[in-house]
Amino acid sequence: MTILIEQLELVSQIDKSVNYEESNELVLDGEFPLPKLQSQNGFSVPQNNSFGHSFRDYDADSERQQGVEEFYRLQHMNQTYDFVKRMREEYGKLDKGEMGIWECCELLNDVVDDSDPDLDEPQIQHLLQSAEAIRKDYPNEDWLHLTALIHDLGKILLLPAFGELPQWAVVGDTFPLGCAFDESNVHHKYFKQNPDYNNPAYNTKNGICKEGCGLDNVMMSWGHDDYMYLVAKGNGCTLPLAALFIIRYHSFYPLHKEGAYTHLMNQEDVENLKWLKIFNKYDLYSKSKVQVDVEKVKPYYQSLIQKYFPAIVRW
Ligand SMILES: [Fe+2]
Ligand SMILES: [Fe+2]
Repeated sequence: MTILIEQLELVSQIDKSVNYEESNELVLDGEFPLPKLQSQNGFSVPQNNSFGHSFRDYDADSERQQGVEEFYRLQHMNQTYDFVKRMREEYGKLDKGEMGIWECCELLNDVVDDSDPDLDEPQIQHLLQSAEAIRKDYPNEDWLHLTALIHDLGKILLLPAFGELPQWAVVGDTFPLGCAFDESNVHHKYFKQNPDYNNPAYNTKNGICKEGCGLDNVMMSWGHDDYMYLVAKGNGCTLPLAALFIIRYHSFYPLHKEGAYTHLMNQEDVENLKWLKIFNKYDLYSKSKVQVDVEKVKPYYQSLIQKYFPAIVRW
């Protein structure tokens, strides 16, 4: 891998006028309690995660739940419209490094998520477990297999070479900026500490957005979803639009779980959302102790990478 910039100073570029205290908890993919499910659309889901608890079950560990709440306090306070604009400008340059997609999957192994209640495996296992589970149920949708493999690669933002962004700027549920924060957002009360909350341009139902404008025209909170979307798009990846939609909005739980913000969607979003809902089940429930044999499946995924991405990707 070529890292073009050794150590970014992005965190120092983050707005100093707001409080950027950091939580030591690593919260990935916005987990919060979900009811136990046995089967959805034919995909059998395990009732328990590797630790014997139900998925996204923070009641199982109240200390962790407090960590999650603190995480969302920081996230809701600090993710402002201006912050996201700056992050998109900075990372949209794609000048932080060059490496292939598979190389990035291996690099993500350096991010060990020790507070994800569902997962104590290296990240590459999560990527491959989701991808292999989808592949089993949708054998002909090779684009969906690759989408699963790459959906979390944006988490490299946590690594020093990619800016070592604080967790609230990388993981957790995402939400639109520039319009009112919907009450279905987890720990909604902490938005009151967000400067945008009292901005009359932003705090109405549509804010600066137009009804039905399409999610493409909505600024989302910054994190690994939007970053990976920018990387895929900026490198001329040929995955279908539904794949880019999944990558960009897979942490947008207020939309795909709660049904909020649908007034901002257009017809294309409605179609793509169907795929996102399918994908989400595999993202959540394929986390398990069953290890995927990396070397065995590697040639298949490398062939997909070759089909849809250039050999060298700019990050
Ligand atoms: Fe994710
Ligand atoms: Fe994921």
